[in-house]
Amino acid sequence: MAKNKVNIILMGPPGGGKGTQAKILQDRYGIIQLSTGDMLRAAVASGSEVGRQAKAVMEAGKLVSDELIIDMISQRIDQPDCQNGFILDGFPRTVPQAEALDRMLAEKGLKLAFAIEIRVPDDYIVERITGRFSCAKCGAGYHDKFQKPKKDGVCDVCGGTEFIRRADDNAETVKKRLDAYHAQTAPIIPYYGGKSILRVVDGTQSIDQVTGQLVGIVDSALVS
Ligand code: AP5
Ligand code: MG
Repeated sequence: MAKNKVNIILMGPPGGGKGTQAKILQDRYGIIQLSTGDMLRAAVASGSEVGRQAKAVMEAGKLVSDELIIDMISQRIDQPDCQNGFILDGFPRTVPQAEALDRMLAEKGLKLAFAIEIRVPDDYIVERITGRFSCAKCGAGYHDKFQKPKKDGVCDVCGGTEFIRRADDNAETVKKRLDAYHAQTAPIIPYYGGKSILRVVDGTQSIDQVTGQLVGIVDSALVS
């Protein structure tokens, strides 16, 4: 078994820092970020059948059907780049998705090390989301206030000069996404608490401080 093989879930509200931290952990540990939101946005951009089904739902701040998502993630986990471990970012998002994940992992002979909640109160979220942008070329994430590129207008990672903002990143849709989070996603947190793999980090701290907390947790899985 590869030294860094560890499978984790990052949970938390929209704009809570899941994607930011998943990318950092991916680089640090060589485990792959699986973001269902990114997969759906790629499907929308490609104009595929999945994308056509997901587009309006995402723009309304609602959740895409469990069936579509479960199928998508099951196929993704079978890809060779997941063999070294993976970080689930934005999945599971409902209790039926969490139950399906358990069945799926058992069938594939895989285990979860941790389900980690990045806890951020609602008051922080609108500013986090409305300030977010990313590089159009490589997808690196930024924020108008909290994570600016080192050189204004130039991506730190690839030197790209075009940036994009997500269609669902506006104050009105954020409110709906938060409602969906509290009603449908927050119940997965006690689900994992009951399995003793739940860990909680304080997501109101700086990006580096949150990474420090996450690294402490992931390292504990690697030494055990
Ligand atoms: P998805 O793409 O997963 O969106 P989300 O859960 O709403 O989460 P975000 O990506 O908005 O936030 P994040 O936690 O990744 O924050 P980030 O790191 O970017 O899903 C989009 C849609 O797809 C859903 O609404 C739904 O329709 C559909 N969908 C996806 N998965 C689904 C599923 N499983 N089932 C059904 N439907 C599904 O950070 C945000 C900003 O804050 C960034 O600019 C960053 O620079 C900044 N920031 C990050 N951390 C900090 C910090 N500690 N301090 C200051 N700023 C910070
Ligand atoms: Mg994200």
